[in-house]
Amino acid sequence: MKPIGIFDSGIGGLTVARAVAKSFPEHSIVYFGDTAHLPYGEKSAALIQRYSSRITSELLELGCGAIVVACNSASSNALHQVKELAGDEVPVIDVVTPAVEKVTSLVQSGCQVGVIGTRATISSNWYQQLLHERGFNAHAKATPLLASAIEEGFHNGQVSSALIEAYLGQGEFEECNALILGCTHYPLIAEQIRAFLPDHVMLIDSAKAVAESLMNELGNESLNGDVEMKPPNLQFLVSDLTQSFALGAERFFGAPVQLLERKLQD
Ligand code: DGL
Repeated sequence: MKPIGIFDSGIGGLTVARAVAKSFPEHSIVYFGDTAHLPYGEKSAALIQRYSSRITSELLELGCGAIVVACNSASSNALHQVKELAGDEVPVIDVVTPAVEKVTSLVQSGCQVGVIGTRATISSNWYQQLLHERGFNAHAKATPLLASAIEEGFHNGQVSSALIEAYLGQGEFEECNALILGCTHYPLIAEQIRAFLPDHVMLIDSAKAVAESLMNELGNESLNGDVEMKPPNLQFLVSDLTQSFALGAERFFGAPVQLLERKLQD
């Protein structure tokens, strides 16, 4: 069976990789963390497209039979480029569409839906556009420091709490029926975000919805092929062997993980 390739700038996409691994226990997963270039949220669309294309080429070279863009910044700025490289044979799943579909299944049209994410995600306007097309009033806000703080290990503590208060403390999402966590790093501080919101605001985390989309897309057999990957089923590639990714991944899985460096051409 061909492996599933998943990428993000850093550890955020691990929240998606975990959901995919749960839904596809038989599959190998190759996770690529672009640690040399994070944070993506502060990059231009052109740079995000360049990095995403290079990673996609790497994953295709490794024989991946599906690509999951486990990063909202890349999904909303580089999906077209990733799909073009992957061609018709290799399905590509983004994280934005499944989150919006999940909202559509849970929230009545006409309601207000909030979304927080990186600058690159929010300024691409893609979430807002998809939400409007489905009849929601979108209220979007960039919360740029959150992903970097989480990447640095500052989650579920005073630093993340102070940042959440600075971004959400004015109560501007209180009228919303749902708030989309529009960055794959944010599920790691979901409980703290929850504490700043009234109970009626549903928190939408796309990780599970992404795994479901992948399931719909792949059916049973489309990953059959001649690329065999032996256990361990989860392989980690990083563009720069950084201590912060190693520590972040170890914290995430509760045990050290083996990282392989794979430089991306600039
Ligand atoms: N986790 C990513 C996202 O969903 C990117 C965070 C970053 O590198 O800025 O947007």
